[in-house]
Amino acid sequence: MKRYHPLLVAFHWLVAIMVLVALVVGGPGLAELKNSDPQKLTALIGHMVWGMVIGGLMLAFLATRVFSRKPPYADAEHPTLKVGRKFTHVALYVLVLAMVSSGIGIALSADLFAIAFGGSEAPLPASFNDIPARTIHGIIATLLLLLIAFHLLGWAYHQFVLKDHLISRMWFGRRSS
Ligand code: HEM
Ligand code: HEM
Repeated sequence: MKRYHPLLVAFHWLVAIMVLVALVVGGPGLAELKNSDPQKLTALIGHMVWGMVIGGLMLAFLATRVFSRKPPYADAEHPTLKVGRKFTHVALYVLVLAMVSSGIGIALSADLFAIAFGGSEAPLPASFNDIPARTIHGIIATLLLLLIAFHLLGWAYHQFVLKDHLISRMWFGRRSS
C-alpha cells in the first residue's frame, strides 16, 4: 500500500488550510480588534464557528486514522527520523485539539455562546486578557506554528534530501503498490 486513505487525505488538507488561515490571519486579526469595536462580535462569531468546524474535522481526521490502514514506512527509515515523525504527528493532533478546547474555554468563561448565538444582549467583557484560557490559547498558537514549521521541515527533508517523494503518501491515487 502506497498511500493514506483518500478520506484521511481530504481531512488532512482541509484541516491544514483551515488551521493556517486561523493561525496566521483569523486569530491575530481578531485579537487586534478592541472588544468595544462594533465589528468585534461579527469577527468573533466567524472565528468561533471556523474554530469549531476545525475541531469537528480534526476528530473525523483522527477517527479515519484509527479505522483505516496506513501505508507502511520504509524499513530503512533512520531511527531519529522515526522518533521525530511519531512525536510531530501525535503533537499535531494534540495541539490542534488543545487550540479548539482552549478557544471553547475562553467562550465558556466569557459567556460568549450566549452573546454570539443565544441572542443575549449582554456586552462583551472589556477584554479577554484576564481569562486563563485566553493566555493558554495564545501560547498554544505559538507552539502550533513552531510545530507546523517543524512538520514542513520534515517534508522538505524528504522531498529535497532523501528525494523519496513522501508527499505522494498524502495525496489521492491508487493505493495498492
Ligand atoms: C498546517 C497544518 C497541518 C497539520 C495540522 C498537519 C497534520 C498532519 C498529521 C496529524 C499527520 C499525520 C498523519 C498520521 O496520523 O499518520 C500529517 C502527515 C503528513 N503531512 Fe501534514 N499537517 C499540516 C500541514 C502540512 C503541509 C503544509 C504539508 C506539506 C507541505 C504536510 C505534509 C504531510 C505529509 C507528507 C504527511 C505524511 C507523512 C508520512 O507519511 O510520514 N502537512 N500531517
Ligand atoms: C484550531 C482552531 C483555532 C485556532 C488555530 C485559533 C487561533 C487563534 C489565534 C492565533 C488567536 C490570537 C492569539 C493571540 O494573538 O495571542 C485566537 C484568539 C481567540 N480565539 Fe481562537 N483559534 C481556534 C479556535 C477557537 C475556538 C473554537 C474558539 C471559541 C469557540 C476561539 C476563540 C478565540 C477567542 C475568544 C480569541 C481571543 C480574541 C481576543 O483576544 O480578542 N478560538 N485564536
